[in-house]
Amino acid sequence: MKIDVLLGLQWGDEGKGKIVDVLTPNYDVVARFQGGPNAGHTIEFDGKKFVLHTIPSGIFNKNIINVIGNGVIIDPFVLKKELAMLADGGVQIGDNLLVSRKAHLILPTHRLLDAVFEKAKGKQKIGSTLKGIGPAYTDKVSRNGLRIGDLESDNFKERYTKSRARHIKTVEQYEKDYTEIQIEGVSFLTYEKAWMEALTVLQQLKKVNSEYFLNNALSAGKKILAEGAQGTMLDIDFGSYPFVTSSNTTTAGVCNGLGIAPKNIGKVFGIFKAYCTRVGSGPFPTELFDADGEELRKTGREFGATTGRPRRCGWLDLPALKYAIMLNGVTELIMMKADVLSGFKEIKVATQYSYSGKLSEEIPYDESTTEVEVVYTGKKGWDMNLEEVTSYDKLPTELNDYVKYIENAVGVPIKIVSVGPDRNQTINV
Ligand code: GDP
Ligand code: IMO
Ligand code: MG
Repeated sequence: MKIDVLLGLQWGDEGKGKIVDVLTPNYDVVARFQGGPNAGHTIEFDGKKFVLHTIPSGIFNKNIINVIGNGVIIDPFVLKKELAMLADGGVQIGDNLLVSRKAHLILPTHRLLDAVFEKAKGKQKIGSTLKGIGPAYTDKVSRNGLRIGDLESDNFKERYTKSRARHIKTVEQYEKDYTEIQIEGVSFLTYEKAWMEALTVLQQLKKVNSEYFLNNALSAGKKILAEGAQGTMLDIDFGSYPFVTSSNTTTAGVCNGLGIAPKNIGKVFGIFKAYCTRVGSGPFPTELFDADGEELRKTGREFGATTGRPRRCGWLDLPALKYAIMLNGVTELIMMKADVLSGFKEIKVATQYSYSGKLSEEIPYDESTTEVEVVYTGKKGWDMNLEEVTSYDKLPTELNDYVKYIENAVGVPIKIVSVGPDRNQTINV
């Protein structure tokens, strides 16, 4: 058995949560492999809507085991809220949620560091979600992190206090009084108290050596789906650095984020919107600043699931999509939010970039300082409400043409077209 992977090919928010939930009945286990509560994965069914930040999107199917893998970073405060939100929605959690002992913790002082680092960047700010992602991964890599498994050790408090003091020393180089900094709308010390209380939630969850759990499951013939967070263009190595997140969002991240050998990677589902969005700073060659951009934002309800910020919107970018397909070894594509393009007379698609006096399909090394002009081709639009459409042959021919055009351009088949946020608004091609 091999593990299948579903991940975002753009700048995040492609609709990963929805499709993981749709695919979940085909699997025994769903596992998140990287990122933290910077993620916001939306799932809608039966008139209900859930947004997950840490818990895998397979959680709505009772028979599936969900694993928070070692590559994920966990904030107990956020996780506690997420569990409460699920309980309110009638979703029960028990042995169907497993947490890797090797997953790292996001400490309250990581959030302070995120806040002061971001503020100090001024105009060059990343547009971070301020969930402590960069500082927590920094501590992991610099071998100073605290892991879920450490909660069980006698010296957890001592190690926490040491990390806290080290972080606060740094924070004080930026802000005189760290207690004034607000996190989640409250002062730091109030937040820290709530965070400490939330640790009990983690003590109650079932902790495992997830690399053994997952490899044993594969050996026993179980089917596993790895769920990505963020998107390829936010990858720490291959995204538009420094305007990226702090983990490997690509297929390679599955290997170290779950402990899966490369030879055990199976299908790679690459998910993309029929257009593009980006939230936060950084290059976005096809970004629209006109009425079309406004229309995409309005119709697509393009506001962040984690921060509520308006998402920047633009046309589909084929050079970026091809880059993401190459990096991830995508075997099947899933196109989201086709319904949002209904009503546009003409739909544009970026086919090439022009920079340094040449046409190219390569993303330039320093995308954020290179002046890139985009070459577009126009596709005929359609004007039909797709909300109720359930089969591919009932879709407007212009949309079928759009699908074929993209498949031909990138050389990978599109297997699903999504026409609305609900589980049922999903069309097999
Ligand atoms: P994720 O982070 O990749 O899981 O995506 P988000 O949940 O952040 O953002 C996707 C948004 O689009 C959510 O509000 C979804 O409910 C919504 N959505 C997903 N698929 C579709 C679709 O096909 N059409 C429309 N209109 N909305 C969709
Ligand atoms: P999902 O999983 C969209 C963006 C932030 C910022 C940059 C760095 O829902 O697709 P960080 O908080 O990691 O320091 O932010 O990455 N970002 C996301 N954008 N979707 C996400 O997750 C994102 N997670 C982080 O806006 O530009
Ligand atoms: Mg999201």
